[in-house]
Amino acid sequence: MQFKNILPAALAVAAVSAQNDTSMMNLTSLIASNSNLTGLATLLKSYPNAADSLANATNVTLFAPSNQALQAVQSVLGSANGNTSGLVTALLDYHTLKGIFYASNISSTPQFPHTMLNNTLYSNVTGGQVVECRLEGSTAEIISGLKQTANVTQANLNFTGGVVHVIDSLLQIPGNFSSVAQNANLTALLGAVNATNLTSTLDSASDITIFAPSNSAFQNIASAVGNLTATQAAAILEYHVINGTIAYSSSLTNTTIKTLGGGNVTVTIVNGTVFINSARVVNPDILMSGGVIHIIDSVLNPINNATGNTTDSAPVTAFSGASSGTAVPYTSGVSTPTSSISNLVASTTAVAASYTSVVPAGGSAAASSGAAGGSSSSSAGAGMQTGAVGAAALFGGAAFLANI
Ligand SMILES: *[C@@H]1O[C@H](CO)[C@@H](O)[C@H](O)[C@H]1NC(C)=O
Ligand SMILES: *[C@@H]1O[C@H](CO)[C@@H](O)[C@H](O)[C@H]1NC(C)=O
Ligand SMILES: *[C@@H]1O[C@H](CO)[C@@H](O)[C@H](O)[C@H]1NC(C)=O
Ligand SMILES: *[C@@H]1O[C@H](CO)[C@@H](O)[C@H](O)[C@H]1NC(C)=O
Ligand SMILES: *[C@@H]1O[C@H](CO)[C@@H](O)[C@H](O)[C@H]1NC(C)=O
Ligand SMILES: *[C@@H]1O[C@H](CO)[C@@H](O)[C@H](O)[C@H]1NC(C)=O
Ligand SMILES: *[C@@H]1O[C@H](CO)[C@@H](O)[C@H](O)[C@H]1NC(C)=O
Ligand SMILES: *[C@@H]1O[C@H](CO)[C@@H](O)[C@H](O)[C@H]1NC(C)=O
Ligand SMILES: *[C@@H]1O[C@H](CO)[C@@H](O)[C@H](O)[C@H]1NC(C)=O
Ligand SMILES: *[C@@H]1O[C@H](CO)[C@@H](O)[C@H](O)[C@H]1NC(C)=O
Ligand SMILES: *[C@@H]1O[C@H](CO)[C@@H](O)[C@H](O)[C@H]1NC(C)=O
Ligand SMILES: *[C@@H]1O[C@H](CO)[C@@H](O)[C@H](O)[C@H]1NC(C)=O
Repeated sequence: MQFKNILPAALAVAAVSAQNDTSMMNLTSLIASNSNLTGLATLLKSYPNAADSLANATNVTLFAPSNQALQAVQSVLGSANGNTSGLVTALLDYHTLKGIFYASNISSTPQFPHTMLNNTLYSNVTGGQVVECRLEGSTAEIISGLKQTANVTQANLNFTGGVVHVIDSLLQIPGNFSSVAQNANLTALLGAVNATNLTSTLDSASDITIFAPSNSAFQNIASAVGNLTATQAAAILEYHVINGTIAYSSSLTNTTIKTLGGGNVTVTIVNGTVFINSARVVNPDILMSGGVIHIIDSVLNPINNATGNTTDSAPVTAFSGASSGTAVPYTSGVSTPTSSISNLVASTTAVAASYTSVVPAGGSAAASSGAAGGSSSSSAGAGMQTGAVGAAALFGGAAFLANI
C-alpha cells in the first residue's frame, strides 16, 4: 500500500505510550487482554472458523469493534436464522486491511486501502473491498458502506502479525448497486436502470464507477426524459458507468475516461470541485459491492459532452430545451428509503462544499500515487450513523445477500 505520512504529529489518537506493550502477543492474546474487546473475544469463540483464519493472519491491520460497537451486531446475529458463519467471516475480513497501517498513515486526504474481503458473495472489488480512511480533526475515521463512519478510539496496538485499532462502531459491508441506490435515495436512477433492464448488469458488475445523477437531476430534465425510447435511455445510463476502473475521489484527475456506453466523459477539477462533463460531483465515494458511486447534480448526455468548469453551483443541463417536471421521473414503482440514512442524499451545496475540501487540489494526482494534497474540514456529506442504524442496515444487507 502507498500511504503518505502527512500529518503524524497531529494525531491525537497516536498518543498511546501509556498503554501496555502488546507487540509480543498474537492476535488472540491481544484481544483477550483488552477489556474493550471482550465482545469480540466472545464472538470469535462462537465462530471458530472465522476465528481460526483471523488468528493466523499476518501482515494485517484489524479494526477491532469495541464492546459498544458489537452490541448491535450480536443482537442481529442472535435473531438471524440459519448459518451466520459466512456473514461473520465476511464481516471480520472487511475489518481486516491487507498490510500494516499505523494511525500515522491516516491523513486528511482520504485513502481507500483494500481489506481481506474478496468473497464474491459480498464483494466484486479486485484485490478486496476497500474502506475509506481519513483524519477528521484529530479523529481517525474509517468509513464503510452507506458512509457508516467509525472512529478509532484506541490506536496502534501492535501484535505479532500486525496492528489493531479499536473502533467505536461496526464497519458495514457495502451492498450492491440496487441496495446502495435505494438507501441513498437515488430512486430515479434505480427506476431508470430497472426500466432499461440494466439492474442485473450493474448489480453483478466488478470494478465499476458510477456517476449517479440525483433525483433532482432527473427531475430537472423531466420533459426530455418523457420522450426517450428505452434504447436511448439505456445509452444515456451506460454513459454514466466506467467499466473496469474504480475511480475513488483520491484518484480522480483531469482526464477523459471511456464509459460503458462507448463515449468518453471528461473529468475536470476546478479549485477542488470535480466536474464530469458539465455535471458537478456533489457526494463522492459511496462504496458498493462492485466499486464506487459518485453522486452528480445533472444527467450526462452522450450526444452533448460539453464540459463545465464553472464555479457556479447551479446545475448545468446537458439536455438543451429540457424543462423540469413536478414529479421525479422513473420513481413511481420504487419505494423511498428510510429517513435514517437520508444523509446520503445529495441535495444541497453544503455537500459540494464538503467535497471541495476532500478532493485533491490541482488535479495532478495520479491514480498510482494514491493521493495528492487537499484537506478535509467538514463531514457534511458523510453520514454519521448510530450503532443501531448500522445494525439495521447491516441486517438489510444480510437479507439482500441471502437472496443471491
Ligand atoms: C495493562 O496490563 C495490566 C495487567 O495486565 C492491566 O491491569 C491493565 O488494565 C492494562 N492496561 C491497559 C491500558 O491495557
Ligand atoms: C497465541 O498465544 C497464546 C499464548 O501464548 C497461545 O496459547 C496460543 O496458542 C496462540 N495462538 C495462536 C493462534 O498462535
Ligand atoms: C478502552 O478504551 C478506552 C478509550 O476508548 C481507553 O481509554 C482504555 O484504556 C481502554 N481500555 C483498555 C483496557 O485498553
Ligand atoms: C492456523 O494455524 C494453526 C497452527 O499453525 C493450524 O493448525 C491451522 O490449520 C491454521 N488455520 C488456518 C485457517 O490456516
Ligand atoms: C504486506 O502487505 C502489503 C499490502 O498487501 C504488501 O504490499 C507487502 O508486500 C506485505 N509485506 C509482507 C512482508 O508480506
Ligand atoms: C481471496 O484472497 C485469498 C487470500 O489472499 C486468496 O487465496 C483467494 O484466492 C482470493 N479469492 C478470490 C475470489 O479472489
Ligand atoms: C459478484 O459478481 C457475480 C457475477 O460475476 C454475481 O453473481 C455476484 O452477485 C456479485 N456479488 C455481489 C456482492 O454483488
Ligand atoms: C467521531 O468523531 C467525530 C469527530 O471527532 C465526532 O463528531 C463524532 O461524534 C464521533 N462519533 C462517535 C460515534 O463518537
Ligand atoms: C508499534 O510498532 C511500531 C513500528 O515498530 C512502533 O512505531 C510503535 O511505537 C509501536 N506501538 C506501540 C504502542 O508500541
Ligand atoms: C426488459 O425485460 C422485460 C422482461 O424480459 C421485457 O418485457 C422488456 O421489454 C425489457 N425492456 C427493455 C427496455 O429491454
Ligand atoms: C421494473 O421494470 C419492470 C418492467 O421491466 C416493471 O414491471 C417493474 O414495475 C419495475 N420495477 C420498478 C421497481 O420500477
Ligand atoms: C428522496 O427523494 C425524494 C424526491 O427527490 C424526496 O422527496 C425525498 O424527501 C427524499 N427522501 C429522503 C429520505 O431524503
